[in-house]
Amino acid sequence: MQNNLNDILNKPQLSKEDVVTLISLRKSDDKALVFEKAAEIRKETIGNKIYLRGLVEYSNICRKNCFYCGIRASNTNVDRYELNEEEVLMCAQHAYDHGYGSFVLQSGERISKNFVKKIGDILKAIKKLSDGKLGITLSCGEQTKETYQYWYNCGAHRYLLRFESSDSDLYYTIHPQDKLHQFGNRMLALKHLKEVGYQVGSGMMIGLPGQNFINLADDLMLLQKLDIDMVGMGPYIEHAETPLYQFKKNLIPKSDRLELALLTIAVLRILMKDINIATATALDSLSSDGREKAIKAGANILMPNLTPVSYRENYFLYDNKPYLTEADELIEKLNNSPELADFDICLNDWGDSKHFQKRV
Ligand code: 5AD
Ligand code: SF4
Repeated sequence: MQNNLNDILNKPQLSKEDVVTLISLRKSDDKALVFEKAAEIRKETIGNKIYLRGLVEYSNICRKNCFYCGIRASNTNVDRYELNEEEVLMCAQHAYDHGYGSFVLQSGERISKNFVKKIGDILKAIKKLSDGKLGITLSCGEQTKETYQYWYNCGAHRYLLRFESSDSDLYYTIHPQDKLHQFGNRMLALKHLKEVGYQVGSGMMIGLPGQNFINLADDLMLLQKLDIDMVGMGPYIEHAETPLYQFKKNLIPKSDRLELALLTIAVLRILMKDINIATATALDSLSSDGREKAIKAGANILMPNLTPVSYRENYFLYDNKPYLTEADELIEKLNNSPELADFDICLNDWGDSKHFQKRV
């Protein structure tokens, strides 16, 4: 295998078949070669740098009913909340004061005029408090092109919208098949985001029930086809109050899911050398050093959670979400990690995707 594997790793472009071969590797010696290659590419292309985004989970109110998600609209066991502007600004100030460089505002999907305006007001206020210096990423679901443009004009410059799965059959086994959850609309939203001028991020869940290596390879190829600037992808973690929970027994074991997620990150780094790859929080619910391992594997973006602690337990997208990790402690931990000794955590830097810089 190793000769064949070296041939694949040295190709200038990977085919889908190559990607399937790489993500299905099971022997640790083989996987080590993939991780080595990803590390080498990262060092050469973007350097061993980690950029920070302070994450705020603005509201768990959502109009959608994704079958995997703990805050889906039909889950009546959730205390719904929405931060006020002052609370968000306190978090933004924390990010700014601690040199995070960038801020992510994430929310359940809502489309009311009131919601759109509130987000716009918050964006303007964050720009004002940081004298334009704090970069802002939004992750507020599918919206009209006009809303994306409005938020862009208010100061957001990056947007994360995962496609969750590139296979439309799988997409409809994890989402209701109705007007609100159309795969085509997700693709259209990603197109609109690019047209408006955002740095666009997308991604998928890894280890979904019913997902195979070919699906996962298709997901990676779609990221490449969409010429995406940043990726947030992480392991699927079951949540007891969701419809997908019934397939729990079909899931791959958690340790294998972590391994698969790490390998997928490394393969993505080989496939798309200069993009930003975020470390999903879900990795830490599989292992306390999941995010550290993801950085080693090829990710370069860390998103410490700044949501006020009293709200965090209501933003349970999945079971075992690590909700008490303090942002500054997490950074300290990574700073002191022997595994990451040759990495720099960059402060006061937007850490834009190199891919985006080249694209425009
Ligand atoms: N496991 C892992 N990730 C999840 N998300 C939602 N529910 C889960 C889950 N059960 C992810 C989705 C969404 C992002 C905000 O959180 O991919 O895009
Ligand atoms: Fe809402 Fe996002 Fe959860 Fe889907 S994944 S139910 S859109 S918060």
